[in-house]
Amino acid sequence: MRLYLDYNASTPVDEPVRDAMLACLDGSPGNASSSHQFGRAARARIDAAREQVAALVGVKPAQVIFTSGGTEANNLALHAVTAGRAPGRIAVTAIEHPSVLEPARQLQRSGWTLDLVGVDGQCRVTAETLQAGLHRETRLLSAMTANNETGVLQDLGLLAEAARRVGALFHTDAVQAAGKVALDFAASGAQLMTLSAHKMYGPQGVGALIVDPAVELVPLLSGGGQERGLRAGTENVAGIVGFGVAAELAASRLADRSARLRSLRERLEAGLARHPQIQVFARSAERLPNTVQLAVAGFDGEALLMQLDKAGIAVSSGSACSSGKTEPSHVLLAMGVDEPTARGAIRISLGKDTSEADIDALLRILQERIQWLARAGSAVGW
Ligand SMILES: Cc1ncc(COP(=O)(O)O)c(C=O)c1O
Repeated sequence: MRLYLDYNASTPVDEPVRDAMLACLDGSPGNASSSHQFGRAARARIDAAREQVAALVGVKPAQVIFTSGGTEANNLALHAVTAGRAPGRIAVTAIEHPSVLEPARQLQRSGWTLDLVGVDGQCRVTAETLQAGLHRETRLLSAMTANNETGVLQDLGLLAEAARRVGALFHTDAVQAAGKVALDFAASGAQLMTLSAHKMYGPQGVGALIVDPAVELVPLLSGGGQERGLRAGTENVAGIVGFGVAAELAASRLADRSARLRSLRERLEAGLARHPQIQVFARSAERLPNTVQLAVAGFDGEALLMQLDKAGIAVSSGSACSSGKTEPSHVLLAMGVDEPTARGAIRISLGKDTSEADIDALLRILQERIQWLARAGSAVGW
């Protein structure tokens, strides 16, 4: 069996995306900064992609800054509004992706005060946690639209209003939400939004920061003035073109894909509910239609992941590896989940090629493997 259930980690490139990218790699030599016909052709391809990405979130093409992915866009968002300013205060939620948390900690090391905004037991930022984490001096609030582990969607209106009240800019990392739920930049109330192509059936290594034109930004990369001086470097034309096509497909297929995913997830969760030792996290919160994070009482998530991998099923564990040690998910810990339970977490993320038969196979093998691990004595006696 070869069953991929890790779509939140990366998605396969859609066929029309691949075709459009291959057409860019046909031997045309153009650099989009050149004014001859070859350069103009490359520029035209980038311009078309910029329109497609802009349309996905309802902005003008000039508001799209292409980057090398979500990580760079998140770093740019935090850097762009803090660089060259006297250290002040920034706030990020405790459940952010490392590509927000790490630059935030870097700012902290250079003198900024960092406030971590907490979440409730269902992975939601609340009015209370915002009140505790935001201050009159807060310059920026960064809070993700959807969490990559639990899939929980935040109330963007609440976040934007809280940031506005203290005069802070609001950045949202929408990498996991884009293509899975409808997104509208203006309606989100954010001034900065991060996207990444490879989470929506586009290529790896390309993303974008969407910006409100009123926000003054300092670039992370300086050089040849590409992307209106906000992200220097010769453009990754094939990647950007692939991103454009992926964004267009994501918009046109969103309703069908998310309805199908939601029904598959219901099938999965109904099957999981038959096992009292399985706990699904943030079950009562509004979540992405494709994501289920769960723990099996008494089991180590990494061991279960390896067992499923042996059976040909790819899922993800919530843990992070640092200095050779497996750390429990910071997201689950922020939700108040105890450490042994957090260590047992695995994430199942469904996608366009997942079928009902796949869900049934997963449920069957999950049950077999849990029984096998219990018999083999691999269960950790928590
Ligand atoms: C929520 C979130 N933000 C940012 C990223 C980083 O994006 P990229 O892989 O394009 O650098 C990821 C990737 O896993 C993510 O899940």
